[in-house]
Formats: sequence, structure tokens, C-alpha cells
Amino acid sequence: MSEKDISQAVISRLPRYFRYLGDLKEKGVERISSQELSDIMKVTASQIRQDFNNFGGFGQQGYGYNVTYLYDEISKILGIDKQHSLVIIGAGHLGQAIAGYTNFTRRGFVFKGAFDCNPNLYGTKIRDVEVRPVDEMEEFVKKNGIEIAVLTIPKEQAVPMAHKLVGCGIKAIWNFAHVDLDVPNNIQVENVHLSDSLMKLSYNINRYENPNK
Ligand code: NAI
Repeated sequence: MSEKDISQAVISRLPRYFRYLGDLKEKGVERISSQELSDIMKVTASQIRQDFNNFGGFGQQGYGYNVTYLYDEISKILGIDKQHSLVIIGAGHLGQAIAGYTNFTRRGFVFKGAFDCNPNLYGTKIRDVEVRPVDEMEEFVKKNGIEIAVLTIPKEQAVPMAHKLVGCGIKAIWNFAHVDLDVPNNIQVENVHLSDSLMKLSYNINRYENPNK
């Protein structure tokens, strides 16, 4: 099976495997069986084996997985064995919080620029990056070969901004604005809606408190 055929459901589970393997690696664990991984991750061992089989298995039957090898392979599959440059469009509350989070850099997502249309923000710094006027965005993205744009602007502005970004050669958009972006298929979009997760939480509170309703 080529990686193209692998379901998004499997891909969406890989970051969690990656995190657990990172923790195991830090603890000095060298080898782990699918059963042991299943116990700590609360996923069935067969699910783990099925997931890993999509990528050729990663281990020998009955011998367990080599933690460092598995960690490195998953990192390659996720493409985080190399760096990705990103810019933030909208340096308000959310944009600043994301840009200020240093762990993304540790994962290889390097924050290169921040753009806003509020002149009061021009020249202010998020970490060591200066907020620039959004009019400078196109040139900056082209010149620096930026791969990912993080959209943290109001939804009304997000669609035209996405078109502009596509025109600058951006490869992917991490979209926090609550609107669907209409971009060509070669542009990768990942929508993040924290409120979806909160609504799911609310549903589960209800379900737990009123199991028979
Ligand atoms: P904010 O008002 O603090 O920041 C928005 C920033 O965008 C402001 O600095 C504003 O000057 C700038 N801006 C507006 N139009 C622009 C444009 N055309 N070009 C460049 N900059 C522009 O708002 P906040 O709280 O940071 O939220 C930002 C966006 O993220 C909103 O669309 C909000 O609905 C969304 N949001 C999404 C969440 C999610 O889970 N997906 C969670 C929180 C907010």
C-alpha cells in the first residue's frame, strides 16, 4: 500500500504514538511490545499492529518494536524530521499565543514572521519576531519560501487572505478562522476549531450525567 492510500484516521493517530514514543525514549526504554504500548496508550494491541502494518510493520513478530527506530520512522512519515517555516497572519490574542509557544519550534515548525493590519502592533515583538504590516506579507512569503501560513484573523478576512497566500506560493494553511477556505487541491488545509472539542466535551458531560436520556 502506498502512503497515499493510508486513511486520515491512521494519520491522525500517528502524533499520539509519536508523543508516547518520545516519552519512552526519554525514559531510556529501548524496546516495547504492542501489548505494552497498548497498556500505556489505552488502545488495543491489534489497533496498534494494524496501524503500523500500513507502514510495513516496523517490528518483528514476538520481538517488539525498537523505540528509537519507530520514533524516527513516524517522524519521517509525519514529515517532522525536517523543518517547516511558518508565518502568522493576525497577531491578536490567538496569533500571539501560537507564535509564543516554543514547543512548535522544537518539533521543527519555525516561526519566521507575523503580520497584522493594526498599526499599533507594527514593530512589537513576539519572541524575537517583529510584527509587520500585512501589506508586506506577500513579498516576505515569496522571498523566504514560507511553507505554512497560520490564519488567526476574523473569518470575514480569512477567505480573501487564503487566496492571496495561494498566490504567494504557500503550501499549507493552518486555519483557525471559523470558515471553510476554498483553495486549490494542492494546498493543504488543516482546520482547527477548539470549540468543536469543547462541544464534544459538553456532549459527554451530558451523556455521563444522563445515561438513559
Ligand atoms: P483578535 O481580535 O485578538 O486578533 C485578530 C487579529 O487579526 C487582530 O490583531 C487584527 O488586527 C488582525 N486582523 C484582522 N484582519 C486582518 C487582516 N486582513 N490581515 C491581517 N491581520 C488582520 O482575535 P483572536 O481572539 O486572536 O481570534 C482570531 C481569530 O481566530 C478569529 O477569527 C477567531 O474567531 C478565531 N479563533 C478561533 C479559535 C479556534 O479554535 N479555531 C479559537 C479562538 C479564536
